[in-house]
Amino acid sequence: MATKVEREQDYLKGFGTDLSPTWRALAEADSHTVEPSLCKENSPFLGDEPIPAQRYTSHDYHRREVEKVWKKTWQVACREEEIPDVGDHLVYRIAGLSFVVVRTAPEEIKAFRNVCLHRGRELVDCSGKGAESFRCPYHAWTWSIDGSLKGFPGKWDFPTVQDGSHDLREARVGRWNGFVFINPDRDAGSLADHLGGIDMHFADWPLDRRFTLWHVRKTIRSNWKVAMEAFLEAYHLAMTHPQALPSVSEHGTQYDVWQEGDAAYSRSITPTAVPSHHARNGSTKEALEVQWALLNGLRMDELPPLPENITDRASLAEWRREKLAEMTGADYSALSDAMVLDSIQYWLFPNFCPWLGEGLPLTYTFRPDQDSADTCYMDAWMLVRLPDGAPTPAAPAIIELGPDDPFEPHIGAMGEIFDQDDFNMPMVQQGMKQWPEDVPGVTLGRYQESRIRFFHQVLEERLA
Ligand code: FES
Ligand SMILES: [Fe+2]
Repeated sequence: MATKVEREQDYLKGFGTDLSPTWRALAEADSHTVEPSLCKENSPFLGDEPIPAQRYTSHDYHRREVEKVWKKTWQVACREEEIPDVGDHLVYRIAGLSFVVVRTAPEEIKAFRNVCLHRGRELVDCSGKGAESFRCPYHAWTWSIDGSLKGFPGKWDFPTVQDGSHDLREARVGRWNGFVFINPDRDAGSLADHLGGIDMHFADWPLDRRFTLWHVRKTIRSNWKVAMEAFLEAYHLAMTHPQALPSVSEHGTQYDVWQEGDAAYSRSITPTAVPSHHARNGSTKEALEVQWALLNGLRMDELPPLPENITDRASLAEWRREKLAEMTGADYSALSDAMVLDSIQYWLFPNFCPWLGEGLPLTYTFRPDQDSADTCYMDAWMLVRLPDGAPTPAAPAIIELGPDDPFEPHIGAMGEIFDQDDFNMPMVQQGMKQWPEDVPGVTLGRYQESRIRFFHQVLEERLA
């Protein structure tokens, strides 16, 4: 059996051919200077031990995640434009915990444990606009939106209620790039430390200058890690999304991971507008046609002819720059082909996946919706750049989907893709629950699934 050192020596980082190159090879041939953040590389060999299946199914493991991760870690609760005005609030639920997130002043957002401190009813049932106070529906104890106890009936009977003693209990709040983070742990380190170097990667890509075109929240009958891991690798494309192969070279994806102090984040960059090695009769022409149609929001069965001036990846990128400039009034002329075409997805511990570039401007989060290892929420936002100088519109209502509701037709072309992903997730959960005792765990590809291994290594550290 090969030793770890021998395995490291032949550690490969993706697979490419002349027709279906790796992203790294495409970056070297980019018609523009590729952004320094995209050029950063860090893909060490992380090992190849199996991952125990019980991490996905055990209630004890789930409870450890609740105590050591969800109660202690910075996590995205919403976008700022979901609560644009003072008094706007929403309920953020995770793993049986509930927080009310409220805009208390034009530039101030607070979050509170969503518990009435009289006898424990959940205080706020659902999101709302312009509240001046929160009144418990049980006995009418009432708090101002800043969390201070405003009043309650029968004061003569509650001598132990003193000034400040029954104010709502705050979680910490931080804001980054239009996202509102909360941390239930008031002694936790700063959000800046939690973000670490990922902030630099987004320094020239302000997600707060984007608006929510749609936001979908789907309940999935699987562990949150099963759902999230389906988005941390491109290896599944060939089987799960075969329609993508003519224009996506999934095996050429670049994967990187970074751990710096409190911060743990990773990234994948998947080349588009080139055919996969797994595409049947793949060609550059077809790759351009398909990608051009996708970028125009067209369906594959209504492909009009490709404009004559689009003959390669560089000319498709140029067309894309002009189109984006036309839509937003912004200047895209310096962006690399990669930034306007490819799928560039980041992940920040524990569950936040913001995308960079104009290839696919999505963001995801995944979290247990209940106090259970077997079910989760997936949230996805489509974030579109605002025309320069335009104010951010309020977010549209969340499209809430139950476990049996398909994504299609709610979110355009992404619906089919997400439905294909979602088709596997409950079945993975079922498989994990009957994992054979004599197989030590799930097997991960060394490189293509390295972001999943990295995530587990960080998670295990936090649970220790
Ligand atoms: S439980 Fe809320 S007022 Fe009594
Ligand atoms: Fe997928």
